[in-house]
Amino acid sequence: MADNKETPLLSVQNLIIEFATENGVVRATDNISFDIFPNETVGIVGESGCGKTVTGLSILGLIPSPPGRIVGGSIKFMGRELVGLAENEMRKIRGCRISMIFQEPMTALNPVFTVGNQMTDVLMRHHGLTRRQARDSAIEMLAKVGIPAPAKRIDEYPHQLSGGMRQRVMIAMALSCDPKLLIADEPTTALDVTTQAQVLEQISKLQAEFHMAVVLITHDLGVVAETCRRAIVMYCGRIVENTSIEHLFTNPRHPYAKGLLDSIPQIRSRRLEELPIIPGRVPDLLHLPPGCRFAARCPRADELCNEQIPTLSPAGTHADRVACHHPYAAEPAGPAS
Ligand SMILES: Nc1ncnc2c1ncn2[C@@H]1O[C@H](COP(=O)(O)OP(=O)(O)OP(=O)(O)O)[C@@H](O)[C@H]1O
Ligand code: SF4
Ligand SMILES: [Mg+2]
Repeated sequence: MADNKETPLLSVQNLIIEFATENGVVRATDNISFDIFPNETVGIVGESGCGKTVTGLSILGLIPSPPGRIVGGSIKFMGRELVGLAENEMRKIRGCRISMIFQEPMTALNPVFTVGNQMTDVLMRHHGLTRRQARDSAIEMLAKVGIPAPAKRIDEYPHQLSGGMRQRVMIAMALSCDPKLLIADEPTTALDVTTQAQVLEQISKLQAEFHMAVVLITHDLGVVAETCRRAIVMYCGRIVENTSIEHLFTNPRHPYAKGLLDSIPQIRSRRLEELPIIPGRVPDLLHLPPGCRFAARCPRADELCNEQIPTLSPAGTHADRVACHHPYAAEPAGPAS
């Protein structure tokens, strides 16, 4: 549960991120707003290309530029504006107050250095520890993320470790500076189901121990159900629903969220990209309709939907938020009209 409902750790407001492409400018996130409170785990879900990774990268000031650019909005972390922050200031926050882990740990680990070298470097740089102290601290951290015989493993190279072990090393590195926010982008997608469950359990355990908030970006609604307290559903660069896990699974209000849930025959068959989900296709970001982006696929669409973009309902302390002209009723009783 969140510690403090009133003061968000992270507050993203009306964030607009654009990419210049050969065919024109695409808006990868269009006016997205959400808060993350201390100690909570929030899932960001949605189909491929809807803007999940770009959102995570923007929080760390890592949007590749060019071609990407934040053209509007605000990202406040512990009250401090991150949009436009100088790179040397951002570097102090990145990997220290906010960490990110990715699907493929080999992209973050340097193959020519041992695990120990990579970890001690981070600890010496950010904490001013001596090499000896940093090594002891790294061994302790490796033990915490569930790596057996950490005093031996620390002298191995990334290629000597299994995929699951590499992911754990990356988590250990991400946590070595005691971040307040961990952004995990598909951290377990590349792992087999058993290892996936173990790594997720480890993240949950460490989240409680380190008192950090976790933003879990995933295609996998099962992972969200098991790990998160709240979910942000994205569609085509916009947030369509921001709700508790309980509500998402029992009473989704946005027709897209409902479509996702309805398309899951059972929670075990759950990868969005593998499911024959909602009929129709996601519109091309270069040729968006004037109204709701989901209109062509929505069973509730009417004229208003085709003309006006629905905006997210206002934030309340506990309220669910939905961006739809005709959302399903808030009670599990069924459609509103
Ligand atoms: N380097 C880039 N150059 C041009 N456009 C980009 C770039 N990175 C992202 N985009 C645009 O931003 C959109 C969102 O990309 P993003 O990687 O955030 O999607 P995602 O939701 O993480 O998808 P996936 O589930 O496949 O990882 C893409 O559809 C694409 O149009
Ligand atoms: S705004 Fe209209 S088209 Fe869009 S999801 Fe809601 S009902 Fe469907
Ligand atoms: Mg992604």
